[in-house]
Amino acid sequence: MDYEERITAAELGEGEERSEKSLRPQSLQDYIGQKKATDNLKIFIEAAKMRHEPLDHVLFYGPPGLGKTTLAGIISNEMGVDIRITSGPAIERAGDLAAILTNLNENDVLFIDEIHRLNRSVEEVLYSAMEDFALDIIIGKGPSARSIRLDIAKFTLIGATTRAGSLSAPLRDRFGVSCKFEMYTPDELKLIIGRSAEILGVEIDNESMDEMARRSRGTPRVANRMLKRVRDFSQVRGSGKIDMEITREALQALGVDPMGLESLDREILSTIIERFNGGPVGIDTIAAALGEEKVTIEDVYEPYLIQKGFLHRTPKGRVVSELAYKHLGLEYGEEQVTINISE
Ligand code: ADE
Repeated sequence: MDYEERITAAELGEGEERSEKSLRPQSLQDYIGQKKATDNLKIFIEAAKMRHEPLDHVLFYGPPGLGKTTLAGIISNEMGVDIRITSGPAIERAGDLAAILTNLNENDVLFIDEIHRLNRSVEEVLYSAMEDFALDIIIGKGPSARSIRLDIAKFTLIGATTRAGSLSAPLRDRFGVSCKFEMYTPDELKLIIGRSAEILGVEIDNESMDEMARRSRGTPRVANRMLKRVRDFSQVRGSGKIDMEITREALQALGVDPMGLESLDREILSTIIERFNGGPVGIDTIAAALGEEKVTIEDVYEPYLIQKGFLHRTPKGRVVSELAYKHLGLEYGEEQVTINISE
């Protein structure tokens, strides 16, 4: 199965943007979770509005699927300004960024996803834009080249990254506010699932919401996707109402186990157990053994495995915990893995 097709993939798949948007809350009042970040942001937004100034630049960091883009959209709504959404890899040249910046209106929000992937020359243009709301443009070449400074509208940059550590220090230092996104608790996910079910117009019982919340690996994007797929099963195989029977059947068919792990999660754990005796083993070696990209394993899969206590990051490498052996149905130290995802 493609990475994008997996039910628990935290990245957005193609064509998913539109359907996900309708489930996205539009105001802070409707936004569930990330209380630490939103409590502070409320104050900063209110203060900026009182001063008729743009909000200071904000950095969002944390695993994918936790609602960074959603919250950026909410900030622009709360500030009463427009948002322009782009990403680090999409801005190839300094000129591309200059074009975006010169088109912003006063106090607008510019959201750059995957900001750690901006290239150096683009990043340098961003420094003066963030600090002085100005662009330094070089005109001409060779000895007659000169630099002119072009003022741009005051704006708020919201940068999002899955890896704050990959940001250069000069860029990181230019953000006045930094928000760490945490994984959601099952209670928060249950509220999100309930809200989404209402928007989708599907009936769901309490137990099924609990079950999906538990299996959504702390990620609203996963929870919403799971809800939509279980709804498909309930329409075709059930009564149209989501109950425990259809939820269990659907999640089993989708390969999501009772802890929310899917095949690659289990493969990561079983590879470390089978081929590297449970670890410690380096991330490069694991990625090569699985034929997966190292960053995908690090940013998408590991955070949940670590949060659940299945995997530890140690200075010598990754180590699988006794809990993971148990989850896979193995004696601690045993090397043969039989994968059984049913309950
Ligand atoms: N949908 C996705 N993320 C959400 C959140 N944090 N609150 C409410 N609904 C959401």
